Amino acid sequence: MSTIWTPNSWRDFPIKQQPLYANKKALKKVEAELASYPPLIFAQEARDLKEKLCDVVNGKAFLLQGGDCAESFANFNANNIKSLFQVMMQMAVVMTFSGEKPVVKVGRIAGQFAKPRSSDFETIDNIEYPSYRGDVVNDIKADLDLRIPNPKKLLKAYNQSAATLNLLRAFARGGMADLNKVHNWNLDYMKNHPLGAKYEEMATKISDSLKFMQSCGITAKNTSQLNHTVLYTSHEALLLNYEEALTRKDSLTNDWYDCSAHMLWIGDRTRDLNEAHIEYFRGIKNPIGCKVGPSMKEDELIQLIDTLNPDNEAGRLTLIVRMGAQKIADHFPNLLKKVEKEGKKVVWSCDPMHGNVEKAPNGYKTRDFSNILSEVKQFFQIHKAQGSVAGGIHLEMTGQDVTECTGSKSCGITADDLTSRYHTQCDPRLNADQSLELAFMIADTLKNAK
Ligand code: PEP
Ligand code: CO
Repeated sequence: MSTIWTPNSWRDFPIKQQPLYANKKALKKVEAELASYPPLIFAQEARDLKEKLCDVVNGKAFLLQGGDCAESFANFNANNIKSLFQVMMQMAVVMTFSGEKPVVKVGRIAGQFAKPRSSDFETIDNIEYPSYRGDVVNDIKADLDLRIPNPKKLLKAYNQSAATLNLLRAFARGGMADLNKVHNWNLDYMKNHPLGAKYEEMATKISDSLKFMQSCGITAKNTSQLNHTVLYTSHEALLLNYEEALTRKDSLTNDWYDCSAHMLWIGDRTRDLNEAHIEYFRGIKNPIGCKVGPSMKEDELIQLIDTLNPDNEAGRLTLIVRMGAQKIADHFPNLLKKVEKEGKKVVWSCDPMHGNVEKAPNGYKTRDFSNILSEVKQFFQIHKAQGSVAGGIHLEMTGQDVTECTGSKSCGITADDLTSRYHTQCDPRLNADQSLELAFMIADTLKNAK
């Protein structure tokens, strides 16, 4: 890796998973336009998140990162943004109240558009199409013309991200996050579900505590934590031309930040040490993540950590472990041992989604809740055995009442149910029921670990 880093030095390296744009002139024009647009986040916000992630490294907070596998242009509306915000607030309050740990909330939202694919082409009804790479690149519809990568979609993704972030900021600071409204976060369709009821019980306890605090003079007027929150944004920084265009020099520190989101991560398929994504990420100062799948080797992981976090700064690097319920016990303990032995300070987060994809008999891509739960439990157990900190969870989830992942005690979705409300653009997501069930389980584990 060369020593001189610039926002475009990644262009000298081999790169995977990029769309092939036919019209290079049109692409350049779009990149220049993006580069002239305002940043979506401010560098100080990214530094604040890094500080909070430092608390996660030290076991003083827990990271909840979640949202769609891929955001879509078609499902862009206030309700979808609001329901995800509400479920994340519910999960966070469950983990804070029952698990007794503050929760750092990071959405896979406001920029999570580009998808890596296993093949450049896919066959649908005997016709071969260029693969769908996310709404920022091409159209999901099986249509040869619409599958051609279109650079103008980069601008649409920027605009949708800006509008989404604007609403999230309004929710976080404008009253939606008020703890006095803890009952309102329960989504309407959840109110008659057993988990909705369990949540209501806990919300009542919180309301009672707030009434007591109010009598003691502690109110939202003098304690803003009671009605404000922060939901940070994140996405997989896959399309490096988009990220480069939003990379800006911070006027306070003269450091470079990727201002497309607070936190960015590198996918499991693009984390090759000698390739473009690692080169780009090493130069930006945001808190960053890297997926760690079953093919990761111990020495490779140490080299990756040294390249991405040479100063061993706690909070800078989150390792998002995504092995699969059947593989985590074989692959994770030695990696963890090695990293801990070398004294590397990282957030260990568990992605129990991407190693547990399966095909249901009816052809639907799904994940079974029992495997998701099993991977999370094993993740916690492995950390306990090692004496290290299980810092966070990384989920594909939605506030919508979808049927995409099978199983769970509360809603028991079967393979046949998948056909009823399967709306994802890409990978199957947990619905609100399943997300809450997971949050209650994690809260118990966090509490027992105290
Ligand atoms: C994802 O997070 O949507 C993803 C593609 O994950 P991974 O890189 O771990 O396969
Ligand atoms: Co996914």
